[in-house]
Amino acid sequence: MTAAVSFPDFRPSGNAAVDPELYDVENRAIDPDGVVLDAMRNLAPWDGRVLVDLGCGTGYWLDGYAREAAEVIGVEPDPTLVELARRRAGRARVVHGSAEHLPLDDSSVDVVHARFSYFFPPGCDAGLAEVLRVLRPDGRLVVVDNDHRNGQFATLLARSLPAAAQGNAETTDAWWSARGSERVEVMSEWRFGTRADLDAVLHLELPAEVADSWLAAHPTVTSMSYGYVLFSVGPGSRPPDRAAIPARRRDPAGDGPAPPAPGSPAGPG
Ligand SMILES: C[S@@+](CC[C@H](N)C(=O)[O-])C[C@H]1O[C@@H](n2cnc3c(N)ncnc32)[C@H](O)[C@@H]1O
Repeated sequence: MTAAVSFPDFRPSGNAAVDPELYDVENRAIDPDGVVLDAMRNLAPWDGRVLVDLGCGTGYWLDGYAREAAEVIGVEPDPTLVELARRRAGRARVVHGSAEHLPLDDSSVDVVHARFSYFFPPGCDAGLAEVLRVLRPDGRLVVVDNDHRNGQFATLLARSLPAAAQGNAETTDAWWSARGSERVEVMSEWRFGTRADLDAVLHLELPAEVADSWLAAHPTVTSMSYGYVLFSVGPGSRPPDRAAIPARRRDPAGDGPAPPAPGSPAGPG
């Protein structure tokens, strides 16, 4: 059993925690040709290395990572999801923790993945500092986020109120850029085996009226284009020289209010 510790930065997920089985259907559909995984690997290879899957949810990705990595650790703040993830972890282990509370030693990890978890800027500096603490000097954090500009799914996000709670593209880009991050766009697609699966996942992620009107306008399809943006940063990343930024415009991505609920129902995040 997972201890009843609660982490202040934990925001219950509106998708993985609500319907873990359906979220697996979604995870199977989100990268059918492996282009997102390839881009993640290009940014920070994990073969033979120590990898942390931060906010690992149901643990869907753990076993695959463990086939290549020397060691995989899933970190998850939701006690119910910790138990689910442990059941399927394979060679990986799963620990109760959060982005701002990693139960890991300093400089002990090579790669941290955060797929649609916690990093919805602004307001993520405490988690970034904690991730940088556990990364080795040449380690990397790789964050997978929705592309709010490109792909059919982005048009649905723009019409969904919960998406607004996950920030906007300009704020997100500026926040990461100010912290010396690399940024990579990846165009993929959601590809489902059946129309019923597409229908169910759209209703898990989006307000019913947005899902219904898209399904009505696309009566036979089982896929849609889906853009991702990856951000990658590490202890060795150099933020832009702030002294060169005019005082009035310093910290264009400065932290605003507390971060929105990671995992709120607006795309996989
Ligand atoms: C949308 S789910 C994604 C799960 C998993 N990364 C995946 O792609 O299958 C978001 C996850 O972030 C977790 N989460 C919520 N608050 C968090 C925090 N402060 N630090 C790390 N993870 C958090 C949720 O419990 C949930 O498991």
